[in-house]
Amino acid sequence: MSPYLFAFLDEHKITSIFNPLSTPAKTEINMGMLELAITAAIFLVVAGLLAYTMIRFRRRRDDDGHQEPPQVYGSNQIEAAWTVVPILIVFVIAGVSARSVWGVEDASPPKNALHINVIGHQFWWEVHYPGYNIVTANEIHLPISHNRDRATYLEYTSSDVIHSLWIPELGGKTDLIPNRVNHTWTDPQQAGIFWGSCSEFCGVQHANMLIQFVVQEPSDFDNWLAAQQQPQPTPTEISAGQKRFQAAGCWACHAVKGTHFNGKLGPDLTHLASRLNIGSGVLANTPENLQAWVVDPQHAKPGCLMPKSNLTGVNLTDLVGYLETLK
Ligand code: CUA
Repeated sequence: MSPYLFAFLDEHKITSIFNPLSTPAKTEINMGMLELAITAAIFLVVAGLLAYTMIRFRRRRDDDGHQEPPQVYGSNQIEAAWTVVPILIVFVIAGVSARSVWGVEDASPPKNALHINVIGHQFWWEVHYPGYNIVTANEIHLPISHNRDRATYLEYTSSDVIHSLWIPELGGKTDLIPNRVNHTWTDPQQAGIFWGSCSEFCGVQHANMLIQFVVQEPSDFDNWLAAQQQPQPTPTEISAGQKRFQAAGCWACHAVKGTHFNGKLGPDLTHLASRLNIGSGVLANTPENLQAWVVDPQHAKPGCLMPKSNLTGVNLTDLVGYLETLK
């Protein structure tokens, strides 16, 4: 069996909208359930009346076949009922929807809220923590927030085509659109790792555009923030792996903070080794997977924008060794 399949069997990837763990996710499921209840009631009334009519007034053997039922014209009561009741239903649904959309999209952040900017790319997520000088990819760490006390506000845009970010437990889909900024927020009420995905078709690797939200206790989150803010220690001597990173041209797309590598096209690799996955969630971040990825990303993720490296032997192990030092 392909090793890539195992990554997919990870139990945490099974997400559910029926287990909402944040205020926006709860707002959305409540709205969905209310609308389901209203439409289910309408269905039962209409289907019930239809079934009753079909049975009660079915054609019987002794019908003469020519007799018409009594015809009702211009009944004010009936016409008022089938005009007013649907209008009321539409008003209720529209009102509840507008209030929910407003609450999820436009809620004004408290002063000390955590802000995170996410930029969609084919086929990965660029993540910025403005104010902390942290740039990462495909993994968003955020603190537990009971009752919005440490809520996280997210700003979304895209560098190429339209993507959409969906973490079912923490909130509904919000689009990442080029030249436009969309807002959403979340206040996760349980620690854990929550999988999200791209939910707007964006190209061949759309289905492998995954993301993880790592919800941490506030103290763990603060430790993570502090660790990620550290630049890579400047070595006294350039390592063989760094030379390989330079010679193979990795720096043209990838940045490593604290070095002169500052490519902008691909994921920032500062602290790469601290991440859980590579390739936007397609592979667990192990040295073996990282090596296979560097040799041929097209094998795990056909159509992704990273080319094969053709590195072998000591060149390859030096390069992967260097990447493994980016803790
Ligand atoms: Cu990005 Cu679909």
